[in-house]
Amino acid sequence: MDIDLLTPDVFSGHRFLDQLAAVRARPGLTWHPEPDGPGFWVAARYDDVHTVLGDPATFSSRAGIRIGGTDEAARLVADRMMVVSDPPRHGRIRRVVGAPFTPASLRLWHDRIVAGVTDLVDEVVGSGVGGPVGGRPDDTAGPLVRDAVGDLTQRLPNQVICAMMDLPRADWPLIGRLTTDGLDSPDPIDRLDANAEIFGYFADVIARRRARPGDDLISALLAADGDLTDGELILNCSGVLTGASETVRYAAAGALLVFADRPDLWTALRASPELLPTTVEEILRWTSPGLHALRTVTRPVTVAGTDLLPGDHVTAWICSANRDPAVFADPDTFRPDRTPNRHLAFGWGPHVCVGARVARLELTALLTALIRRVRTVEPAGTPVWSTGNFIHGLTSLPVRLFPA
Ligand code: HEM
Repeated sequence: MDIDLLTPDVFSGHRFLDQLAAVRARPGLTWHPEPDGPGFWVAARYDDVHTVLGDPATFSSRAGIRIGGTDEAARLVADRMMVVSDPPRHGRIRRVVGAPFTPASLRLWHDRIVAGVTDLVDEVVGSGVGGPVGGRPDDTAGPLVRDAVGDLTQRLPNQVICAMMDLPRADWPLIGRLTTDGLDSPDPIDRLDANAEIFGYFADVIARRRARPGDDLISALLAADGDLTDGELILNCSGVLTGASETVRYAAAGALLVFADRPDLWTALRASPELLPTTVEEILRWTSPGLHALRTVTRPVTVAGTDLLPGDHVTAWICSANRDPAVFADPDTFRPDRTPNRHLAFGWGPHVCVGARVARLELTALLTALIRRVRTVEPAGTPVWSTGNFIHGLTSLPVRLFPA
């Protein structure tokens, strides 16, 4: 079987899910050659993804967590940046970085996050940005034409995380651009440059917060009693920024595409907002913005009958696990009331997403605000998908929004 999980066109054409469905149906793990690298195994079934992510002693994160990352980049951050570390070091970093994300800490952020998201929706759907296209904001009004990504879902997580970190408002667009370049730029050197700029930025912020702590996420991180050096704090602020910004926007955009394609689902959600919690989980399963996580084998192991050797790279395809018919009935249908929904969108095991609660809150706040402001979402052009095979989603989604 031809398999290609590297070529940008496969991702911009949104064809990778078909390939992964074929891989799921094959026995064992599938080998994927790499023209500029050693090649990697593909784990596509739910159980295999679960096994790989749940066993950090056998499947290490220290040599990098994505296809196409460089050894040099991984070496610079191994066991210093939480997501590129293994136990026991990982646990010690997570005690510090996870401090602002406990349920108790999040109660402090809750109102600020909801207010920020609601203001953004009001700004975009209200007559603020560009004004309504051809109508008044009442039942007879014409629609507002918006790029749901550029105008809304890209700004949403950037705004939330920058506000949580209490960064100056004037810096938010720069931070957004650097985060995207640091993660997604096709050239690894450009990625390193953008990340270097972010590190410099956080070095200044950390120095300022040490001198004058506030009630923000970075001050909370500094107050957590850990043994992280300043360099490690900088790396992990950057890790949180990336984790927060690049994922939620794709989940939110994917949700809007679903509701644009299926107006009946939007009408049903508006009529029954009690469906919100299961809808949010289904959005996470359906969009799975973190497509894969890479691990390096540390000792001989057999997964699904395939023997793996130390040094082998294994990629756990989360997006494929979330479409596995062995676990999800009718997996290619968006079901807002799906229960149970044991999706792996936030990963699994010790690295399970530290920001999951924030992400759920953002998506819930977004839909709550949209339900109030938008009667119907309609497609207004061709959606554009990103080319990335690591974090993936819509980079543009023209929609017509009919104000409620
Ligand atoms: C829809 C939204 C999100 C998705 C789909 C998502 C997905 C993931 C996944 C799959 C992992 C595991 C990576 C691995 O095992 O190698 C992860 C880890 C992580 N996420 Fe998220 N994430 C989301 C939102 C967020 C938010 C809002 C934040 C911060 C506020 C965040 C911060 C992080 C961090 C720092 C890690 C590393 C955790 C560790 O290594 O222990 N994420 N995320």
